[in-house]
Amino acid sequence: MRSDAQGIPRHIGIIMDGNGRWAQRRLLPRSAGHRAGVKNITPVVTVALEYGVQCVTLYAFSTENKNRAKDEVDALIDLIRKRLKPMTRELIARGARVAFSGDSSYFPQDVRDIMEEIVAENTDTTAQVVNIALDYGGREEILRAAREAAKDGEITAETFESKLYTAGLPELDMIVRTGGEKRLSNFLLYQAAYSELFFTDTLWPDFNGEELIALLNEFSKRTRRFGK
Ligand code: IPE
Ligand code: IPE
Ligand code: MG
Repeated sequence: MRSDAQGIPRHIGIIMDGNGRWAQRRLLPRSAGHRAGVKNITPVVTVALEYGVQCVTLYAFSTENKNRAKDEVDALIDLIRKRLKPMTRELIARGARVAFSGDSSYFPQDVRDIMEEIVAENTDTTAQVVNIALDYGGREEILRAAREAAKDGEITAETFESKLYTAGLPELDMIVRTGGEKRLSNFLLYQAAYSELFFTDTLWPDFNGEELIALLNEFSKRTRRFGK
């Protein structure tokens, strides 16, 4: 199994931040930044998959992002409606399996149908995973898992983790946040316990495979002690 033993992270989480500022700097509407951001996903993820990463989780829309101006939320939902299927088709063609993390009930039925179709279409459990976090919040995930695990009786690490959206995915070895902010913004809070954190000022639409490879090199040089 490919693993962190060779200095390759098993699972990378990417906080794709900075679309709005990318657009503002070009005097474009924020929605143009989101469009540029979506275009950037496949090239960057392809580099991660070629490098041998088993799973990439992309933070695409947080539970808190719903509180943005209605225009922007509508534009984001429309972008998901139009681009999710073509984008995932491309990723699946590159050998990946696409999964989702989050509470999709917020999205309109047609968008949920698209998500369900995508999940039903790719069943290759041996493939590398591209996990898209949509309407995802770490606190919501933890509360939900606790409630679900409590229904089954005693809560152990195993029963609890089996109720997380990331159940079955490898350890989150690495988190990359673009856009300059140094915070997790409710991303994979439980899973981030021993993740190596990387922050870059590059805005997400400008981030590329070359920069990712540089961060992966840095990852391979870090000493992970896990408290020992
Ligand atoms: C990240 O870019 C994308 C989403 C949150 C959907 P932002 O929209 O947060 O961009 P900035 O941080 O305002 O530049
Ligand atoms: C985090 O970015 C969420 C995504 C990238 C989807 P935000 O822009 O929402 O985070 P804050 O508001 O700066 O913490
Ligand atoms: Mg932001």
